[in-house]
Amino acid sequence: MIKLAPSVLAADFARLGEEIASADMSNADWHHLDIMDGHFVPNISYGPGVVKTINKITDKFLDVHLMLAEPEKYFDPFIEAGADAITFHIEVHPNPTRYLAELKEKHVLAGLSLNPDAKAEQVIPYLEQTDLLLVMSVFPGFGGQSFIESSLDTVTACRKYIDDNNLDCLISVDGGVGPKNAQQVADAGADILVMGSAFYKADDRKDLADLVHSIQRGNI
Ligand code: DX5
Ligand code: ZN
Repeated sequence: MIKLAPSVLAADFARLGEEIASADMSNADWHHLDIMDGHFVPNISYGPGVVKTINKITDKFLDVHLMLAEPEKYFDPFIEAGADAITFHIEVHPNPTRYLAELKEKHVLAGLSLNPDAKAEQVIPYLEQTDLLLVMSVFPGFGGQSFIESSLDTVTACRKYIDDNNLDCLISVDGGVGPKNAQQVADAGADILVMGSAFYKADDRKDLADLVHSIQRGNI
């Protein structure tokens, strides 16, 4: 089953508790948490304190996406806050082996992300050590941007490598994903669809979660 990970960045922060509860009630699978430092990306979001608060009110899997210039400094605070997966960028650590190993030792899923202008070849050598590959389909920093189609080539190439080598690595796609391109993104090989604006602005969040759960790869 294809999983849906609503991105909290697009939620109404004045009603954060209700928004998280609504995502849970919609049957969405994970919560995607975007952490931005104003250095690696030109925006600042929130930190471990907010993640800890969210962890208190949901039992769902917390998928923490670190858009940070020094992500390893913050592994422990986010793990203590309740992260189940921690993802950092290949752009920050072109040789990510020791950081992926550190995350596995700390019993969270070890996630690696790449920007839309990166090549699949940059991450392929590390997929065996990676639990979760987060393919960015927008340049990170802001929600609500348009999907960059060429990211699907990265998804396809990484899916093929994972399948050919029988690896245990999930692929998630993040940025500009919504009901209109969900099937296409799944067909390219995604296991998890991150949706910020498409989820939190949806007329019916449960319908959207049902739609994602009904997707079978290869229906096009
Ligand atoms: C972008 C973030 C995304 C973003 C997705 O920097 O990593 O997770 O919140 O939002 P939408 O789905 O609105 O593009
Ligand atoms: Zn993200």
